[in-house]
Amino acid sequence: MVIIALAGKGGVGKSTIASQVVRKLAVRGSVLAVDADPNSNLCDKLGIEKKGTIGELRDEIIADPGKVPVGLSKQQYVYDQIQRAMTETESVDLLVMGRPEGEGCYCFINSALKECFVKLIPNYDFTVVDNEAGMEHMSRKVLPQADVFLFVSDPTVTGIKTAGRLSELAEEVGIEIGRKILIVNNVIGGLAERLSDAAAEAGFSETMAFPRDLFITESAVESEVLDVPDDTPFGESINKLLALIVREVP
Ligand SMILES: Nc1ncnc2c1ncn2[C@@H]1O[C@H](COP(=O)(O)OP(=O)(O)O)[C@@H](O)[C@H]1O
Ligand SMILES: [Mg+2]
Repeated sequence: MVIIALAGKGGVGKSTIASQVVRKLAVRGSVLAVDADPNSNLCDKLGIEKKGTIGELRDEIIADPGKVPVGLSKQQYVYDQIQRAMTETESVDLLVMGRPEGEGCYCFINSALKECFVKLIPNYDFTVVDNEAGMEHMSRKVLPQADVFLFVSDPTVTGIKTAGRLSELAEEVGIEIGRKILIVNNVIGGLAERLSDAAAEAGFSETMAFPRDLFITESAVESEVLDVPDDTPFGESINKLLALIVREVP
């Protein structure tokens, strides 16, 4: 059981990286992929048609609290429903948080989700959590631990500062983190080296640079599905990252 989480501001490449990590891990074992971004597109990148979302589930329960069957605790009911909302494929199960349409907060669903994670995660060899930029779920400590926490940034001082703040937030809420890695994505030329001071200042001791890759740009014109080959610059970086992740397997 290895948990990999990703965080970073919007548009830096979290889902791009998460989707390729999921693809690689799926060859090695069972994967639970969690799309915690309200503008969920992890499923599209993986080419998986999503069945339902936690947000929809929340709206349903709020609209009709009488839905919870007599004799079943609300927690148990939500757990059952969350499993129903999950999209299952041969090697990847996908849980999409989505966005609730109605008013009100996510508190109750977050606490149910927390419990759900504790029960679900041990059933998989790998769990990959693609967090949303705002980190709403993370700030509620929905995720108890992350063996590898990837903080993704664009090649800018501002992006790295944000990644540093998110990493502090993850620590503050008490997520047990095994290993923190700053990924500077979309790198051209020697930009990553020039950002090493900013990375150190933001508290990162381990940094990886992921190149800007035209394969990704071209591919996005053709389709939402993304499958980056091993022999592209980005694919090579994914393989390097995977070697690190798999080393964390106890
Ligand atoms: N290394 C890269 N090279 C080229 N394009 C990239 C790269 N990483 C991400 N992109 C593009 O950047 C955009 C945002 O990526 P995405 O993964 O959706 O970000 P996030 O999930 O952090 O919001 C997408 O259009 C994606 O195709
Ligand atoms: Mg995303």
